[in-house]
Amino acid sequence: MKLECAILGATGTVGQRFVQLLDGHPDFEPTVLAASERSAGKLYTEAVKWLLPCSVPSYAEKIGISGLDPAAIASSGARLAFSALPANVAGPVETELARRGVWVFSNAAAHRMDPHVPILVPEVNHPHLGIISGQRTPGKIVTNANCSTTGLVLGLGPLRRFGFDRVVVATYQAVSGAGYPGVASIDILGNVVPHIPREEEKMVAETRRILGSAKGGLIADHPAEVIASCARVPVDNGHLEAVAVGFPEAPDYDELLRAFAAYESPREVRGLCSAPDKPVVLTTAPDRPQPKRDAWLGGEGNRAGMAACVGRLQVSGGWAKFYLLSNNTVRGAAGGSILNAELALRNGSLGGRA
Ligand SMILES: NC(=O)c1ccc[n+]([C@@H]2O[C@H](COP(=O)([O-])OP(=O)(O)OC[C@H]3O[C@@H](n4cnc5c(N)ncnc54)[C@H](OP(=O)(O)O)[C@@H]3O)[C@@H](O)[C@H]2O)c1
Repeated sequence: MKLECAILGATGTVGQRFVQLLDGHPDFEPTVLAASERSAGKLYTEAVKWLLPCSVPSYAEKIGISGLDPAAIASSGARLAFSALPANVAGPVETELARRGVWVFSNAAAHRMDPHVPILVPEVNHPHLGIISGQRTPGKIVTNANCSTTGLVLGLGPLRRFGFDRVVVATYQAVSGAGYPGVASIDILGNVVPHIPREEEKMVAETRRILGSAKGGLIADHPAEVIASCARVPVDNGHLEAVAVGFPEAPDYDELLRAFAAYESPREVRGLCSAPDKPVVLTTAPDRPQPKRDAWLGGEGNRAGMAACVGRLQVSGGWAKFYLLSNNTVRGAAGGSILNAELALRNGSLGGRA
């Protein structure tokens, strides 16, 4: 039996990805699609401005949109909710759902820094799921990172064992990361906007937290200094990042190449429906990764778009530098949340099947 689930913010950029990726999912079955009062009461197909290249899945065509009523969602039979709500709306709704016994897998920033809420990128920090035991509600809240941070920590995963202490990142972020309608076309066409509100602060804080260690039910941040500069570029999907990583004793190029090539998902994550075949795909092509060509790596079906692509690897002085690409609406958003829920189900935290 599949677990019934709700999608909150189902009509938005990320919500649509949830609707698509959960079509035929082996473990989760969407039965509630919730959005704002503007959409409530309409059929999904009437309310949504569908942006994906596939058609609206047939299961969603038949579901009427509900408003955001935690009591109604909890009594609908939904055991979990995937949240793609704006952060200011998500906070109280997610808290109330957890209080009513619904597990929330959220893309929103509202709870990411709560002490007992993990920011989970399973390949990098699956043990952090354990800190949910500190949440005093029957349902639990699990978040995924900001879309640019998710790509960054995947790319840093293979380098952790070399003990880096500085990370400098500059991003080239796709417009889909700003939601719909997002950035005005007149601001972004033929242009680059070197400001994404609160993005740099989030990248710094979330990266240090995700790479940190879980001790005594809390997270101790990774000590590395992280500096982020974030820009919006006229690309539809896929965040590119230029990353420089500083080490007290830098590994040489061949060691780094081997570390990237050998990097695998941990046993706890391997084989999950949305877990990429390899979390990081290394390319040695001189002009890759590119959003147009490398945003869909990771495998077939729900794994497509779940791997980060790393290229242009170079070592100079105490620094390694590379470009990294990750799919912001899949790996950085809906696909990441679904992988988190699959992990929670596999390890028994989600309470098994209905
Ligand atoms: N886009 C990305 O790549 C990305 C990546 C990672 C995380 N995130 C995060 O994911 C969340 C959603 O982002 P998005 O890009 O999908 O935004 P979006 O396209 O603007 O969609 C927002 C969704 O929330 C609903 N909503 C808005 N106000 C509401 C309200 N007051 N009550 C109930 N529902 C409301 C909208 O419903 P209506 O259609 O009815 O207005 C829509 O379904 C945000 O927290 C964002 O920061 C986004």
